[in-house]
Amino acid sequence: MRAISISLALYLTTVSLGLGAAAQSAAAVAYAPTEQACPAGTSLVRQVGSNAQRQTLSAGEAAYVSAKQKVVAEAWKKYLANVRSHGKAALPPYVDELLLGQRGHGALPKLGIATSGGGYRAAIFGAGIMNALDGRNQTSVKAGTGGILQTATYLSGLSGGAWLVSSLAQADFPMLPELIFGPSPASANNGWLADIDLLTPGGTNVTADNAYIAELLSEVSLKFSKGFPVTVTDVWARALSRHFANGTTAANFFENSLTHGAGITFSSITNVPSFANHEQPFLIVVADSLVSRNNGSAVTEAGDIVPLTNPIYEFNAYETGTFDPQLGAFTPTKFLGSPPKSSGVCVTGFDQLTFLEGVSSNLFNEFNTSAAALNASMIGPIINALHNAFPETGIRLDSAEIPNPFFGISPATFPDSDQNILTLVDGGEDGETDPLQPLLVKARGVDTIIAIDAPADTSDNFAAGLDLISTQARVKLFPGTYAFPPVPSTTEVYLSQNLTRRPTFFGCNSSAASGEPLVVYIANGGPPLGQAPLTNTSTLQLQYSNSEIEGMLNQLFDIATQGIPAETPKGLEKDPVWPACLACAVTDRSRRSVGVARSGICESCFARYCWS
Ligand SMILES: *[C@@H]1O[C@H](CO)[C@@H](O)[C@H](O)[C@H]1NC(C)=O
Ligand SMILES: *[C@@H]1O[C@H](CO)[C@@H](O)[C@H](O)[C@H]1NC(C)=O
Ligand SMILES: *[C@@H]1O[C@H](CO)[C@@H](O)[C@H](O)[C@H]1NC(C)=O
Ligand SMILES: *[C@@H]1O[C@H](CO)[C@@H](O)[C@H](O)[C@H]1NC(C)=O
Ligand SMILES: *[C@@H]1O[C@H](CO)[C@@H](O)[C@H](O)[C@H]1NC(C)=O
Ligand SMILES: *[C@@H]1O[C@H](CO)[C@@H](O)[C@H](O)[C@H]1NC(C)=O
Ligand SMILES: *[C@@H]1O[C@H](CO)[C@@H](O)[C@H](O)[C@H]1NC(C)=O
Ligand SMILES: *[C@@H]1O[C@H](CO)[C@@H](O)[C@H](O)[C@H]1NC(C)=O
Ligand SMILES: *[C@@H]1O[C@H](CO)[C@@H](O)[C@H](O)[C@H]1NC(C)=O
Repeated sequence: MRAISISLALYLTTVSLGLGAAAQSAAAVAYAPTEQACPAGTSLVRQVGSNAQRQTLSAGEAAYVSAKQKVVAEAWKKYLANVRSHGKAALPPYVDELLLGQRGHGALPKLGIATSGGGYRAAIFGAGIMNALDGRNQTSVKAGTGGILQTATYLSGLSGGAWLVSSLAQADFPMLPELIFGPSPASANNGWLADIDLLTPGGTNVTADNAYIAELLSEVSLKFSKGFPVTVTDVWARALSRHFANGTTAANFFENSLTHGAGITFSSITNVPSFANHEQPFLIVVADSLVSRNNGSAVTEAGDIVPLTNPIYEFNAYETGTFDPQLGAFTPTKFLGSPPKSSGVCVTGFDQLTFLEGVSSNLFNEFNTSAAALNASMIGPIINALHNAFPETGIRLDSAEIPNPFFGISPATFPDSDQNILTLVDGGEDGETDPLQPLLVKARGVDTIIAIDAPADTSDNFAAGLDLISTQARVKLFPGTYAFPPVPSTTEVYLSQNLTRRPTFFGCNSSAASGEPLVVYIANGGPPLGQAPLTNTSTLQLQYSNSEIEGMLNQLFDIATQGIPAETPKGLEKDPVWPACLACAVTDRSRRSVGVARSGICESCFARYCWS
C-alpha cells in the first residue's frame, strides 16, 4: 500500500488510566521482559559479513533445514502422486524422477513461500492460497495442487502475512480453516476471532472500547516500569494477541485476569510439536527500519516512506538481524531486548510473538505526517494515552523501539551503529510488501518461490506488482548479496498483461550462474471465472464476519486452482493442465541442475505461464 486513507469510524475519544496503585495483572507480568546474567559462552552478536560468500546460517536454522529435508523428500513424493492422480496431463519423465528422489536428494527443489502484507485482507488471502496447496485438504488434493505446502522449507510473512504465518506456527500448524475459525469443538485456541474488531471490540459501546484500550495499556505497564521502551506497537501487540495467539475465546475475550497470549515468545516456537518434528516450514517475519541518519545515497521508491537502502530486519525462532551488507549481523531472538552495550546481562521475554507481529505490521508512523495529523488519526487517542501514562524521552511512540543489539557494529556502513535503540516499522513501508528478501539470501539456497501477493496497489485494493518492482530495485542495490529474476518495472505491464489476474512464472530463462530463483507469482488481481470480487477489502478493515471470510476462501480456492482460464463459449473455465504446469514450475530449477532439457507439457506450460 502506498498512501493510506483513513476511513475508520473512530469511537475512541479519551482513555484514562489508573495505573499507579493497581496490582499487575497476569498478562502484564507475562508480557514484561526479565533480565538475568547471560549463560556462559553466550554471544549476543553473530556477524555474517557483507557478501554472499561469507553468509552463514545460524546453527539452529542449519540443523532445522537439514532435518526438514528428510520430511520434504517424502512430501514431494506425496505431492507428485496428487498431481498424477489429477491426471489431466502426462508429466515428462524427469519430473517424476526428480520428485521421487531418483536423481538424488541434492536435486530436490528447495521451495520457499512468501505471503504479503495488506492487513486482514492479506492474511485471509495468504491462508486461502495456502489452503489450496495443503496436502491435508482432500479438496485441494483432488484439485491437483494439494501437497505443495508440505514441501516448503521456508515460509515468510510480513504485516498481515506475519499475523498469518506466526499464528499458524504457534498454533502447531493446523489446517488453514481451523486456524481462522478455531477447532471444532472449540478449545483454548479459538481461531482468529475476526468478527471482533481489532481496536474497537465493543462495537458501538464507547465505554467498553475505552476500558479495553485502558486494559491493553495496563498490560504493557510493567515492561515500561522495568525500563524498556513502550510504544504504540506494544499496545497493538496486546490487541493482536487476542486474535493471533493461543488463549482467547469469544467467551473470555473481555476477561482481564487471563494472559491472552502474553508469554508466548517467538523463540519458544521451537517447542511446538510440529516445529520440533520439522513438519512446519521454517518461519521468518520481516520488518523495516527507520534509520537515524541517511548518508546521502538513500534510494526511495516513489510513494514510499522507507528508503530501500535502509536495513530490512528478519525474525526467526533462532535469530534476529539482517543479511543486508550494511550490517550483516544477527542476535539470538530469545535475548532480544538485551542492553545495547555488552554488559553480561541477557534479557528474555522481550520477543513476545505478538510484539513481533506488531512490529511487522506497525504502519502507524504513516499517520504521522504532522503532530496534528497523528493526533487526529485512529491511533491518536492511544498515542496520547501512552504519552500521559509512560513519560519517555528520545523515542518515537508511533513506531517499534528495540534496544539496538548491533551497537558499534560496522560504523562505516550501518547507519544505526551509534544508536541505543532501533526504530522498526511495517515491513511493507519500503514498497516490498511481499517478504521475498529473506528467501533471496544465497546461503539459504531457495531455488523456487511461491509469492502470494495481496497489497492494495490499486484504488480498488488489488495488486499491481509494486512489491516485485521494489524488490527488483533493491536487489540491484545489493547485487553481491541477493539475486532476483527480471520482472516488469511498471504496474501498467502487470495490469495490461493480466499478470496479477492469473499465476505468472518469472525467471524461466535465468542462467544457473545468475543464482536467480524461479518465482511463481499468485496475486490478488481480481475475481476469477467472472465472479463478483470478494477479496479486495480495505487494508484498514479490522473486522470480518465468518461468512465474509468463507466467501473469500471459496473465491481464493478458485484463484489458486484456475491457472490461466480458457475463454470458451460457456464462459471462463479453469485450465485443466494448471496442476501439471505448477509441477513443471516447482521442478524447473532441479531439472536445470541435472542438465535435462524442458520437454513435453512443461514446454507448453512455460510458453503460456512465463513472463518474457
Ligand atoms: C478444504 O478446502 C476447501 C476449499 O476452500 C474448504 O471448503 C474445506 O473446508 C477445506 N477442508 C478442511 C477440512 O479444512
Ligand atoms: C496452541 O494451542 C494448540 C492447540 O490448539 C497447541 O497444539 C499449541 O502447542 C499451542 N501453542 C503454544 C505456543 O502454546
Ligand atoms: C458497555 O460496556 C460496559 C463494560 O465496559 C458495560 O458495563 C455496559 O453495560 C455496556 N453498555 C451497553 C449499552 O451494552
Ligand atoms: C551509504 O549507504 C549505502 C547503503 O546503506 C552504502 O551502500 C554506501 O556504501 C554508503 N556510502 C557511504 C559513503 O557511506
Ligand atoms: C488531539 O486531539 C484531541 C481530540 O481527539 C484534542 O482534544 C486535543 O486538543 C488534540 N491535541 C493536540 C495537541 O492537537
Ligand atoms: C512523529 O514523527 C517525528 C519525526 O518526523 C518524530 O520525531 C515524532 O516522535 C513522531 N511522533 C510520535 C508520537 O511518535
Ligand atoms: C472491489 O473491486 C470492485 C471492482 O473494481 C469495486 O467495485 C469495489 O469497490 C472494490 N471494493 C473495495 C472495498 O475497494
Ligand atoms: C486480460 O483479461 C481480460 C479479461 O479476462 C481480457 O479481456 C484481456 O484480453 C486479457 N488481456 C491479455 C493481454 O491477456
Ligand atoms: C526465454 O526463452 C524462450 C525460448 O526458449 C524465448 O522465446 C523467450 O523470449 C525468452 N524470454 C526471455 C525473457 O528472454
